[in-house]
Amino acid sequence: MKNSLIVANWKSNKTIPESLDWLSQFVSGFAKTEGKEVILCTSFPLLYPLREQIAQNDLDIKLGTQDVSQFPEGPYTGEVNAGQIKNLATYVLVGHSERRRSLGETEDVIGKKIEQVLEAGLNPVLCVQDENAQIPGRCDIVAYEPPDAISTSGPNSEASDPERIERIASFFKSQRPGLIFLYGGSVDDNNVRRFTEKDSIDGVLVGAKSLSAEEFLRICQNA
Ligand code: PGA
Repeated sequence: MKNSLIVANWKSNKTIPESLDWLSQFVSGFAKTEGKEVILCTSFPLLYPLREQIAQNDLDIKLGTQDVSQFPEGPYTGEVNAGQIKNLATYVLVGHSERRRSLGETEDVIGKKIEQVLEAGLNPVLCVQDENAQIPGRCDIVAYEPPDAISTSGPNSEASDPERIERIASFFKSQRPGLIFLYGGSVDDNNVRRFTEKDSIDGVLVGAKSLSAEEFLRICQNA
């Protein structure tokens, strides 16, 4: 059976107490299922308390951030650099479409962020919106998310056609053997399996439906 990554993207949601409540609800129903890896990508302030709970309870859950500084440590007020993330998380989302659109992130900046993440020994998850996107050589995980499939993009947004995503996944993999391909955009407990059952799709990136522990649990179970 292939390994599936089920990645939650909480975006800019949850306080520390809310995140700890979420975790205790989630783990009360979560038994690690063979071949599934759960990753929670959260805002920076939630990482330390979540990491403590995960370690104390010996939970098989990994953490990730949703961004990183393009710079190393130094005089960059307000930035969080990759070295600071290193002891807290394992994965870093880079280039999410919301950051490209609302925060003006360019390919150049995204490339620098990936370099920082790799230098710190962390795993970048490069979010791409274009089926012809170039994947930097050392970036092993890509999350393909068509912006109009993201749940907040409009009242009619819906998940992409899994057959189409499978074709895109195999195209990416033909260019980059060994690439881990995730799909994101309106994934829920009803449609998740239609993606994860495809040979070339290695997992999903889940936004809105990861905010409720019960819903995310069902997604993990159904994946
Ligand atoms: P969504 O978000 O699951 O709410 O569509 C996915 C994402 O933006 O990563």
